[in-house]
Amino acid sequence: MTSIRELAIDDAAALGKLLDNNELDLGYMTHNPKNDVMRFASVEDYVSSLLEVEDARFFAIEHCDSLVGVISLLSIANGAAELSYCNLSPTLTNKGIMTQAVRLITDYAFSTTQLDMVYCYINNKNIASIKVAAKNKFALVGRSIKSNDVSRYEMTRTGWNRKKAKELRS
Ligand SMILES: CC(C)(COP(=O)(O)OP(=O)(O)OC[C@H]1O[C@@H](n2cnc3c(N)ncnc32)[C@H](O)[C@@H]1OP(=O)(O)O)[C@@H](O)C(=O)NCCC(=O)NCCS
Repeated sequence: MTSIRELAIDDAAALGKLLDNNELDLGYMTHNPKNDVMRFASVEDYVSSLLEVEDARFFAIEHCDSLVGVISLLSIANGAAELSYCNLSPTLTNKGIMTQAVRLITDYAFSTTQLDMVYCYINNKNIASIKVAAKNKFALVGRSIKSNDVSRYEMTRTGWNRKKAKELRS
């Protein structure tokens, strides 16, 4: 069972443990928590810095009641936000966890926060992440202006509501 909830300062210890794993490869991430955490004196300081970002929302991903990853809405402005996500438990990948987490945060984005669009940037070699976006029906809309190796995927509020209505009918 996968769920999301707002990240809290109490998650620091568990998050620190997950980020300390040498097997964890977050090389494709633009916003890489493994690198970011090193700029802080402690994981608590890192988490509290995240919670202070005014134009972002960070969520803990839980699977069977344990923290397994983080999913975020970044640069929230003008009705849009950038989606970023990482499964920090290498033994729990390819089990559908991120597909479900993206579904839950996209629901949140279009209901609770009233956004009109959610987008994400994915490296063209990051097949698992491309699959997560595709399974949630995000559309490939073009390349990142920063790198030809990175593509942009989008979901609109209308597209999401249409997808959910279709699911209800089937
Ligand atoms: C990418 C990532 C988020 C996927 O998380 P996850 O919990 O494993 O995702 P899911 O299990 O929901 O879906 C992954 C899908 O990719 C598939 N997959 C994984 N590696 C694959 C490969 N090399 N070739 C083809 N399919 C692959 C899985 O089989 C699964 O698809 P399926 O459900 O149809 O079988 C996770 O690997 C991760 O956090 N990676 C590091 C950080 C990162 O890259 N974040 C995204 C930045 S844009």
